[in-house]
Amino acid sequence: MSKFIDSKYVKKICEITYASYDHGWDERNGGNVSLRLTVEDLKDFSDIATVKRVLNLGFDAQKLAGQYFLVTGTGRYFRNVIKQPLLDLGLIRIAEDGQKGELMWGFEDGGQPTSEFPSHLMSHIARLQYDTQQRVVMHCHPTNIIAMSFTQDLDERHWSRLLWKMQAESLVVFPEGVGIIPYMTPGTNEIGAATAAKMQDFRVVIWPHHGIFGVGSDLDEAFGLIETVEKAATIYSQIGAQGGQIKQEITDEQLQQLAQAFGVTANPKFLAGN
Ligand code: 13P
Ligand code: ZN
Repeated sequence: MSKFIDSKYVKKICEITYASYDHGWDERNGGNVSLRLTVEDLKDFSDIATVKRVLNLGFDAQKLAGQYFLVTGTGRYFRNVIKQPLLDLGLIRIAEDGQKGELMWGFEDGGQPTSEFPSHLMSHIARLQYDTQQRVVMHCHPTNIIAMSFTQDLDERHWSRLLWKMQAESLVVFPEGVGIIPYMTPGTNEIGAATAAKMQDFRVVIWPHHGIFGVGSDLDEAFGLIETVEKAATIYSQIGAQGGQIKQEITDEQLQQLAQAFGVTANPKFLAGN
């Protein structure tokens, strides 16, 4: 039997939170991440067998009853998780009634899960309907995506096409495009429900004037998805910095060819002429 602190899950979440901070996406306590784990994933750890504390979830998470989530704490800095995982991370089991979370490990100085935990859990529930491998929800504050939410109409077709055309890899990585919700107050069940509703069609949801939610089957995939969207937004910003005049671009026909070459289905609502 080994200790959970030495697990690949804790190691990887430390690595990803630090990388996200290092990219400039997580000033102060900005950002949060949750990784879903199963009983099978956790069978080898000796120190997660007893409930340390019971927490109120604030909404009905019964669809996730019995599942475990390794999650960042509210108010904790992504910059520090790598140095103090036992304080800044918690492993929470969703109780049978779906109303409570049982802390099995971590948050050793009395910490609580992120204020966006309802948004995370609702997004996990939404994505699990389509993808049984769904494991990760990641939220952070990438600069160029936030900047674009001030200068662009908040229209999913417009954003998806614009981001697709900024680099060849965009359409391959997010062929369904990006979802956008209206500006809403963070940390509420309302923003969680609006985000989860968008997660029926998208793996990326833009929170205007705030940040992004991205999902995936593992931490690298969710991180890579956000990284690719933010890279496209950065290229858009750089084009603006170079005067904003575009002399040539990726055409709609070339988008179609990309989809074909990489065996992905581009969202037909966002391709020209549809
Ligand atoms: P937490 O510190 O509660 O995780 O909140 C950070 C954040 O980014 C809110 O949207
Ligand atoms: Zn945030």
